[in-house]
Amino acid sequence: MSDKLQRTLIILKPDAIHRGIVGEIIDRFEQKGIKIVGMKMAKLSDLLLDKHYAQHKGKHFFEPTKKYMQMLPVVLVVLEGLEVVRVVRTMCGPTDGRNAPPGTIRGDYSGAISRNIIHASEDEKAAYREIKLYFKTTEIFGYDKPDAHFYYDVERGE
Ligand SMILES: Nc1ncnc2c1ncn2[C@@H]1O[C@H](COP(=O)(O)OP(=O)(O)O)[C@@H](O)[C@H]1O
Ligand SMILES: [Mg+2]
Repeated sequence: MSDKLQRTLIILKPDAIHRGIVGEIIDRFEQKGIKIVGMKMAKLSDLLLDKHYAQHKGKHFFEPTKKYMQMLPVVLVVLEGLEVVRVVRTMCGPTDGRNAPPGTIRGDYSGAISRNIIHASEDEKAAYREIKLYFKTTEIFGYDKPDAHFYYDVERGE
């Protein structure tokens, strides 16, 4: 298996659910050849959000962000692919939707840093931690796609 094969966590935030764009967003990752290996809906508890956003505790946006993340349930997705942590972050775009370039998810859908549609793990360490926070190992599914050769050079792991 390629050492570039990674998993990452995305969260479709309450604004994505409310606006009915969950399918469109997930479609972007599927079109890119990124594999869905876990997916579920959940209402995020205070405790989970404290853990998830631990690095932001004490910042001015910490409490408002927690409130925003609890407006509706969210959709949690584990994605797999080559260098997928970085690729997915790039596809999401910068945190502030008003500064995010068109073509990125936040650039196309978000008009405010406080309503930015999607979360994506920032690096491999965060991805490992976040996937473990939300998913049991039995909720993640490894499987082969017969057309993988048309998305990646599978032999070379490139
Ligand atoms: N200045 C801010 N004002 C309001 N909300 C913010 C601000 N900065 C960050 N947030 C919210 O907190 C989340 C976590 O922030 P951060 O980790 O810096 O961004 P990212 O989600 O791009 O990794 C953001 O996605 C956003 O929902
Ligand atoms: Mg972050």
